[in-house]
Amino acid sequence: MKIGFLGTGHITSSVIQGIFKSNLRINKIYVSPRNKSISKKLSKKFKKVSIAKNNQELIDLTNWVFLAVTPKVAHKILKTLVFKKNQKIISFISTINIEKLKKYTRAKKVTRVIPLPFVGIKKGPIIICPSDNIVKNFFNKLGKTIEIKNEKISKNFWTTSSFMAPFYYFMEVMSNWLVAKGVKRKAAEDYTRELFLALSQDSIYKKKLSLKQLVSESQTPGGINAQALKELKKKKFYKNQQKVLNSIFKRF
Ligand SMILES: NC(=O)c1ccc[n+]([C@@H]2O[C@H](COP(=O)([O-])OP(=O)(O)OC[C@H]3O[C@@H](n4cnc5c(N)ncnc54)[C@H](OP(=O)(O)O)[C@@H]3O)[C@@H](O)[C@H]2O)c1
Repeated sequence: MKIGFLGTGHITSSVIQGIFKSNLRINKIYVSPRNKSISKKLSKKFKKVSIAKNNQELIDLTNWVFLAVTPKVAHKILKTLVFKKNQKIISFISTINIEKLKKYTRAKKVTRVIPLPFVGIKKGPIIICPSDNIVKNFFNKLGKTIEIKNEKISKNFWTTSSFMAPFYYFMEVMSNWLVAKGVKRKAAEDYTRELFLALSQDSIYKKKLSLKQLVSESQTPGGINAQALKELKKKKFYKNQQKVLNSIFKRF
């Protein structure tokens, strides 16, 4: 199988790193020349990665094409390119719907996929819309796939993916607080990373419990977790989280 990535930016780089950590059998990967430095790095690091001369050549040389440019660039370039009949087109683009993508590419079918940067370490949820067994089998090797039939529903997942930076900031605030209290930076960061890793892993091991049950299990009445939760709720921390989700949702 020969696959191509139109747009060689952050997400393409992560997906390619993931592919080479997986047992996916790919004969050849073509990346577009932009971004110059990322495409050069990838082709240097992986023998099977080559830089296509231009976007059209990338399409001509491949069976699958991943659309990994920003929406603004996609609106500009997709209609100028000629896709092959029966070419598998998989879009990572956040805000262009399937109908529009089909118009631009003149394809009968386009699948939208939301990989997140941890796909590079074969971790994390990967939304696929609409269901497609072949695409699912591919991404099953790179993370935990979740198929969504209705494109409108997938907008909710795009929305929640905006909480990566806020999540890390939450960790940073905690770590900075430890440093301000006299803990060495490295110990503070190590502790914070390990704490949140363990919490996430534990929630996966305890899949039989709902998240609501986990919240309840992790506090004792009158204890410090109960107090922290109560105070954050009172200060509308979580109400604001919901408000922000609603505001991001409007972008899709
Ligand atoms: N990052 C994520 O976590 C993530 C997750 C899921 C989906 N997505 C989606 O994936 C898409 C790419 O995101 P990204 O974060 O990877 O963005 P990015 O790092 O900005 O990558 C976009 C790439 O497109 C290249 N490009 C610009 N004009 C081009 C052209 N005419 N032809 C070919 N390539 C061109 C850019 O090159 P230059 O640097 O030279 O301009 C850049 O390397 C977006 O639509 C985004 O919504 C991203």
